[in-house]
Amino acid sequence: MTKKFYITTPIYYVNSSPHIGHSYTTIAADTLARYYRNILGEENVRFLTGTDEHGQKIQRAAQSAGLSPSEFTDEIVPAFKKLWEKLGISYDDFIRTTQERHISCVGRVLEILLEKQLIYPDTYEGWYCTPCETFWTEKQLLEGSCPDCRRPVEKIKETNYFFKLSVYQGWLIDHINKNPSFIQPEIRRNEILSFLTLNTLTDLCISRPKERLNWGIPLPFSPEHVTYVWFDALINYISATGAFGADGKYDSKWWDKDTTIVHLIGKDILRQHAVYWPIMLNALGLRMPDTVFAHGWWMVGDDKMSKSRGNVVEPLSMADKFGIDVYRYFLLRDVPFGMDGNFSEESVIKRYNSDLANDLGNLVYRTLTMVEKYFQGNIPEKGRLNTQGQKIEESIEGLSLEPLLIFYNFSAALEKIWVLINMANKYVEDTKPWNLAKENKTEELKAFIRLLVDVIRGASSALEPFMPGTARSINEQLGSDKINKGNPLFPRIE
Ligand code: ME8
Ligand code: MG
Repeated sequence: MTKKFYITTPIYYVNSSPHIGHSYTTIAADTLARYYRNILGEENVRFLTGTDEHGQKIQRAAQSAGLSPSEFTDEIVPAFKKLWEKLGISYDDFIRTTQERHISCVGRVLEILLEKQLIYPDTYEGWYCTPCETFWTEKQLLEGSCPDCRRPVEKIKETNYFFKLSVYQGWLIDHINKNPSFIQPEIRRNEILSFLTLNTLTDLCISRPKERLNWGIPLPFSPEHVTYVWFDALINYISATGAFGADGKYDSKWWDKDTTIVHLIGKDILRQHAVYWPIMLNALGLRMPDTVFAHGWWMVGDDKMSKSRGNVVEPLSMADKFGIDVYRYFLLRDVPFGMDGNFSEESVIKRYNSDLANDLGNLVYRTLTMVEKYFQGNIPEKGRLNTQGQKIEESIEGLSLEPLLIFYNFSAALEKIWVLINMANKYVEDTKPWNLAKENKTEELKAFIRLLVDVIRGASSALEPFMPGTARSINEQLGSDKINKGNPLFPRIE
């Protein structure tokens, strides 16, 4: 087991407010941060999120809002923070790429790489997709348009600075082969490996001429250029945790050998994280992250949910409608992490009624009702159990989610909790406690009810990283020896 755990989300563009997709990565990261805090202690976990504020997209969005880029970003960032607060996101640090700590770090990275002759100027001529801020070769174009967003590309010619990605191609292939958990899930690892074995990496253009774009971090050695937004953005993962000294050495409590470092991202930004970023780190002489996990997309019909497609669902309205924990539960339970999923209110309601109202909510409510009815609200002592009871007790003890969460398998982890919940519900149906009461089998009834309470305690503690508010209410209702029964946690939605 690792000593320290550092988890990050992408830093989101602030050209508009966050949608379900953004909240998905952030909720997954929050769940892992909470899980590891319980195991390693608060002080040994760092959870970073933030905002990506430079570049053409933001400059344009600001322009159309009639604001300067910095006025505009200052206006949008609170919407992200408010949403994260509402969704119970327990981030330790929120980085903005417009912060001084980040700007100075990017400047140092550029200087160090220039000194190492890994950055050089060159004149470029080729195709450029402005909305995506990506250069494409003639061959990559799709019917003359951007292969990513399908919008028209522009032919441009300009002098820029380039980073020598190509030098590290062999090293990267080797690193990925030697570290099977570096890129996950496996389908993404294979995608990157086949990309790297079928193509020759071209050097990465890391600057933009100021005359075309001035909203960016200036290159310390060329005042006519600003830094390409992706090169700037990736550095957030280190600029948030430390700084480079005058000797070029980087000092950080989190980017060190004792920390497990995990980047959660969507599959849309895999190449930047699995090719550019490790090469940047290697060029700087810094350690690699342990894992880049690229999850799938939330889709609406056949389309990815995205701002540019205009089909986004608002996380706040979903959390208001169904409850924060229901929303968190649905996202992590309904689709295995790594696969695409379809979002619809009907599927949220279906999950709600079956898993939350019927299974969990019902178990808690019927157990508390029995503690009230048979024992005046006092939780009975443990007692002798029959075979079915013993099996359940063993499942409580075996409820570790670690074997699943080390593979980011949130849905299977939740399923494992639900196996226990449903064993307990079946135990109630098989035992028929009302008969035990009628026949005055008090010792058996005590042992039976106490086991149900233990199931709920075990399930609730395992559930806490996923549904912190629900775990809190369950614990409040259970009390320590005398219960405080409240309303059903999840009344059925008809
Ligand atoms: O790419 N389904 O920011 P971004 C699932 N600033 N996840 C989704 C999603 C969807 N439909 N849509 C978005 C950027 N996401 C850069 C990142 S990091 C150094 C810089 C999530 O605002 C998912 O995590 O476009 C995806 O990778 C991210 O939002 C993209 O956010
Ligand atoms: Mg995007």
